[in-house]
Parts: sequence; C-alpha cells; structure tokens
Amino acid sequence: MADKPSFYITTPIYYVNAAPHLGTAYCTIMCDVMARYKRAMGYDVKFLTGLDEHGEKVQRAAEEHNMTPQEWCDSLAPAFHEIWHTLEISNDDFIRTTEERQIKAVQYLWERMKEAGYIYKGSYDGWYCVPEETYFTETQVQKADEERHTEGQHLCPDCGRPLERVQEESWFFKLSAFQDKLLALYAEHPDFVMPDFRMNEVRTFVEGGLKDISVSRTSFDWGIPVPFDDKHVTYVWFDALLNYATAVGFGNPDMADEYAFRWPAQFNVVGKDIIRFHCVIWPAMLMAIGEAVPEHVFAHGFLMVRDDETGQTRKMSKSLGNAIAPQDVIDLLGVEGYRYYFMTDCVPGEDGGISFGRMEQVYNADLANSWGNLVSRTLNMSAKYFDGKTPELAEGWADVENPLRSVAEGIADRYCAAMDRIAYGVAKDEVMELIHAANHYIEDSAPWGIAKDPARAGELAQVMANLLEAIRISAHLLSPFMPTTSAEVLRRMSLEDEADTADLRAACAWGGLKGGVAVTKGDALFPRLQPAKK
Ligand code: MSP
Repeated sequence: MADKPSFYITTPIYYVNAAPHLGTAYCTIMCDVMARYKRAMGYDVKFLTGLDEHGEKVQRAAEEHNMTPQEWCDSLAPAFHEIWHTLEISNDDFIRTTEERQIKAVQYLWERMKEAGYIYKGSYDGWYCVPEETYFTETQVQKADEERHTEGQHLCPDCGRPLERVQEESWFFKLSAFQDKLLALYAEHPDFVMPDFRMNEVRTFVEGGLKDISVSRTSFDWGIPVPFDDKHVTYVWFDALLNYATAVGFGNPDMADEYAFRWPAQFNVVGKDIIRFHCVIWPAMLMAIGEAVPEHVFAHGFLMVRDDETGQTRKMSKSLGNAIAPQDVIDLLGVEGYRYYFMTDCVPGEDGGISFGRMEQVYNADLANSWGNLVSRTLNMSAKYFDGKTPELAEGWADVENPLRSVAEGIADRYCAAMDRIAYGVAKDEVMELIHAANHYIEDSAPWGIAKDPARAGELAQVMANLLEAIRISAHLLSPFMPTTSAEVLRRMSLEDEADTADLRAACAWGGLKGGVAVTKGDALFPRLQPAKK
C-alpha cells in the first residue's frame, strides 16, 4: 500500500434494467470529478461504481425477455462500461452484485449479524413496490392513497406505480435498536449527511422512530441465499448497500490490509431518492457488526428539464417525451462540454434545471468565448512573436506584480475549499475569474501594439509569460472537469509532464511556466455553437 492517504469514493450501483441515462451519468461524472481532483491532490484514490443485479425487478425483466437473470444482466452490463468509457470516467473498479466477491461478503454479513444478535425470523405482511424494490407499511400506503385520491388502488408512495401485497416468512434486521445510535452519529458528525438540509431531513425521519425491516424474501429466488436458511434470498438493498465494503475486501482475509487502508469510505455519493437507505439503514447495518460508517453520504438533487420560455422545470421522463439521452448531449457539446455543463451549471445538492438552450449558452460563453478563445489567442501570439516558442523568461519574471498574478494568488486554496464540499460551480467561478481577467489583460495590454516596437521586447515577453502562466494554472484547475482538454493545453505549451500532477497546489503556484519551449497553436478547443433553429 502506498504512503499516500486513501480516498475512497463510490457511486450508487445502478439497476441493470434501465440503460444508463442522464441521471446516472450525472452522479458518475460527479464522483469522477472528485476522484480526479483528489488524485491531483496526492491521494491514493479508489473510485468505485457498478451494477445492482439482484431482486425481483431484474428477475421479472429477464423473464419477459426469455432470458435467465444472469444472461439478462450480462446483456446489459456492456452499455454501462461503454458510456462510462466515453464520458471519461476513471473508475478503478466496477462491481456487479452477482460476482463471487459480493456473494461471499453478503453471506459473511449474515453470519456477523446473526452473531451480533441483530436479526431474527418473523413474518412480513405488507406492501412492496417492485420497481423501487421497497417495502411500505400500511400507514404509509394509506397516507399516500389519501393524498392522491387513488380510490382503493394502492400505489407506491414514492413512484406512484401499483403496489403488491407481500405475505411471507422473512428475516428481520433490528433497525429499531439503532435510533439513539444514529442520532448520536448525526450529532457527532453533522456532515455525515451532506448537504446539511438533507441531514436535517434524515434526523427528523429517525426522530420519528424506526421499525425493524424485512431483509430476506422467499417468494422468488434471484438473490444471494441466506447462508443458514436457504429458502431465503437476501433483500436486494441489504445486498446492494454492502457493495461499498465488498469492493475493498470486507470479509475477505486476503484483502485485510486493503480493507484496513480503505475503510471507511470518504464519500458515498447518492441521489436524494435513496438517502434513507444510505443514511439510516446502511450506517445501522455497519454499526450492528461493529464496522466504521462512511465519512460522508452526499445526496445530489435530480436533473429536471427546464422550459426556457416559461422557466418551469419538469421531471424528465420518457412518457412526458422530454427525456434527454447522454448521447444527445455528447452530440451537442462533446464529452468535455457535457461534463463541464452538468458539473458547473447544476448545483450538486439541489435539483438542476437543464435545457439545450442553457447548454449552448454555457458552452459558448465559458468554453468557446472565454477559455477556448484565451488559449487560442495567447498561443497564436506566443508562436507568432517568439518564433513558435514560449518567451525566454527573465530572472524574477514571476515576482513582477500584474493583474493576473493577483487573481491567481491563493486561487488553489479557494478552489480546494469549494471542491472539497462538492461545490463545483463555486470552484469553477474561481477559475473563470482568472480566465476573464486574462482575456481583459489581452485587451488592456494589447501585445500586438507592443510587438511593433523592438525596444519593448522585454515587456512583450513579460505580458506573454503572464498570460501563458494564467492558462497553465487554469488548465490544472479545470482538469478534473475536462481532463482531455487540460492535457491538450499543457501539451501545446510543452508541459505534458505536468498533466498528471499529484500536487495540485504546487502546480498552481505562480511561476511554473517553462520559457523557450515549443508552442503548438492547434485547432480550436471549443468551436462556437450556432444557436439552435427554433
Ligand atoms: N440500485 C439502486 C442503488 C443501490 S446503491 C447501494 C438504485 N439504482 S438506480 O439505477 O435506480 O439508480 C439510480 C441513481 O440515479 C440514484 O442515485 C438516483 O438518484 C439517480 N437518478 C435517477 N434519476 C435521476 C435524475 N433525473 N437526476 C439525477 N439523478 C437521478 O437506486
């Protein structure tokens, strides 16, 4: 194991039966940006994503397609690998819950739970939503029915689809025993759930009391068998949540060192719809068996489609005809534009209002007109005035006061403070401030005028060095969002060795530029988009 500190971040594991969509891509890119940022900060990062393959929903979908559940999962898994590859997701591992490592870990969990005395056999009689793989009590269902006036038809309080009655023998997890322990966890670690308004929601829910939950099923068999009761398969969420621990060696003696190094995870990033599983049941499961809980569960909001004319946002869905596929966005913005738009224009903790109009606006303003334009003008001038090279740097050039150096002063600290709390838009604003300052600096200093006077060659070299330095720092700071573009910009300045820095702060210190090295002008990084035809 390396001497670097561990940073372990996870996405939820996605159900296989829907193709990867904008929402799953959103969460996965969010984690990727964090993983890349932490690698650049010198951490030994493990970034995990994967697939949730068990449960009744998957079994039924497989039956409908005349396949075994495993064949069905195997047929869908490649689509996830492909889209993550396209979107430059740098995950270090990909877990599927049907893998041997997960089966062993879940069975070990059962044994540990039994030893600890937190499971017991009983019978479950209540409601179940198969698409959500969630149990609901009579009271929850009645309340939702009244609110929705469903007239006798019982619909899922979460998704509104028909519920099914489940009456079967079941193993239960004594969740009710964890109310005080969870409240103590939230009190001691108020940032266990982020953002803080979600912490309040979770706390209020737990204060309302917790009921034991059913964690095994007998009426179908697509799940991990309970080791001491083979009529039962593990409830899909009890299985799925454990994946985060499995991937770093929970219950595997051969991975004891890795587990000690990696666990607990720093971040479980999830959507707001699955916080109760992650902020209540998951920590209770870990507490029951005496394992540490993750440092943070970060809940992101939902992507909603915004109507640019009315400003109203609506849920994205196929039936409303407003669903946007990842490929549609890639076609418009390219992969790096896609990543930049979702990560900087949506506030991760809140619901995001997205639209093609806004995508074009952000792309043109920030990427084509500001970042792309700055790079192209500066590299062109540098190549033109200094014979295809960066200027030779005078002794002490980096100490010369100038507007860009002032903006760049302390930029890495401000950026890191925002990145650490997943405030990506705030981090981006820091970089954009430098980029805007540099574009203004070009206008104000007018290098083309200085270049006409050979007596001002030193001044020209200083101006160009300041601009190139601002670009170098911006490329580093934008790299977690747009890794390929940043690597390309650094390459064009003969700084490719810097692209994979493990010391971002040092890399962002003013003065790192190399003088007298080749400059490549290259094609436009972000060609301007023409406004969509109405
Ligand atoms: N399999 C469970 C998670 C188990 S984790 C131990 C699951 N899978 S899912 O495929 O339904 O995952 C969905 C993830 O995508 C959730 O985090 C959910 O919040 C997210 N999104 C689904 N639609 C979304 C949007 N419209 N916007 C943003 N994210 C959304 O739940």
